[in-house]
Amino acid sequence: MKNIVLCGFMGCGKSTVGKQLAAATQRTFVDMDHYIEEQAGRSISAIFAEEGEAAFRAMETEACRTLGQQSDLVIATGGGAVLRAENARALRKNGTVVWLKVSADCVLHRLHGDTTRPLLQRPDKETAVRELMAAREPLYRAAADIEVEADFEADTVVKAIEASLIAEIG
Ligand code: S3P
Repeated sequence: MKNIVLCGFMGCGKSTVGKQLAAATQRTFVDMDHYIEEQAGRSISAIFAEEGEAAFRAMETEACRTLGQQSDLVIATGGGAVLRAENARALRKNGTVVWLKVSADCVLHRLHGDTTRPLLQRPDKETAVRELMAAREPLYRAAADIEVEADFEADTVVKAIEASLIAEIG
């Protein structure tokens, strides 16, 4: 079976939805951030702090290349993963890419108090979310085969994805 690749902004629900979707479609769930943390032997925050964002992005590209060659997976990507064209290409080779489209208000609510996303550890978090999301939207759209509204509970989003996938790939 082809992979199902979930992309979208931080807090859109890729991991929560991905776990349920994997169970519902008999695929294995892989969280790309966890995969990178395991390969690197440290947390995303530590990678950003000790080696910088560029080093993290290189690891992410390697993860896209490796996971994109496998089958039967639901892959929850990191929020920046599909923004490099080569990453999106690698994941699309054997996968259908689904964009979980979430509102800035929903992200701010869900990630209130979160300390695990280095890009959002700043006093002007709300501006950062709104600006980053606006800049990324066209890239998510370009990367994705399917768009699903994701401001809802995970089980609602899973059902919407399954309905879209049946329409898209049968
Ligand atoms: C990032 C999103 C994070 C993680 C890293 C960078 C981004 O993943 O990969 O902090 O650039 O949007 P989540 O989307 O799972 O939070």
